[in-house]
Amino acid sequence: MSSRGKFIVIEGIDGAGTTTQAAMLAGALSERGLTCLNTREPSDGPVGVLIRSLLEKQITPLREVYGDEWAERVTLSLLFAADREDHLSRTVSPALSAGAWVVSDRYFHSTCAYQMRDRESLDWIIELHRHSLIPDITFFIDLDPKESLDRIEKRKSAEGKTEGDLFETLDQLKRIRSAYMETITRLRERGDRLEIIDGCPDKDSVHTAILRALTPLLP
Ligand code: TYD
Repeated sequence: MSSRGKFIVIEGIDGAGTTTQAAMLAGALSERGLTCLNTREPSDGPVGVLIRSLLEKQITPLREVYGDEWAERVTLSLLFAADREDHLSRTVSPALSAGAWVVSDRYFHSTCAYQMRDRESLDWIIELHRHSLIPDITFFIDLDPKESLDRIEKRKSAEGKTEGDLFETLDQLKRIRSAYMETITRLRERGDRLEIIDGCPDKDSVHTAILRALTPLLP
């Protein structure tokens, strides 16, 4: 029987390059002969699809329906947590049990950082995930919100898009980065393994830094 694989998570504010780095890491692990699954949240399951249509404003954003951003965060936290359970049961856990390494572009740290309002709400979100699988290691790609917004704008104009997703403003990105920092401190206190990686250099250098930090876990 194959031994259980490792669960690796890549986190960061929008524009920090989580999707690129998750793909590069999964590629590098496969090249080393490991079976590797590259996955993401919101997932491609039924709840994930619903969430994406809210974030991309194909369905009226909840903050407009409620007229209250805090109420939206509660509903979104519960939706993201439901998607996470679905993603774990449907995709992540079976792959790990079969011996694959799983790289996830985002996980519960995103709910902590994006949906947190204050310390009490962070406690609530962490509690909501009390039974969720803890990753073997999580990388937070740290990028200055201004630089990140520049990258988002360039990507949008390359794709011919005019409107941004829900969290793509400088104020939101600043808020989310500082919420990530608070989340990292809290989760490290309980023993979770989180590495902060400088996201400013080119993507190959960021990839090399991630691989270097992962070395102790590699077979
Ligand atoms: P993202 O990976 O940026 O998707 P895309 O590359 O398609 O734009 O994720 C979508 C957004 O969802 C991103 O802004 C972060 C947000 N998000 C949350 O607010 N909470 C969560 O729990 C998760 C997983 C994502």
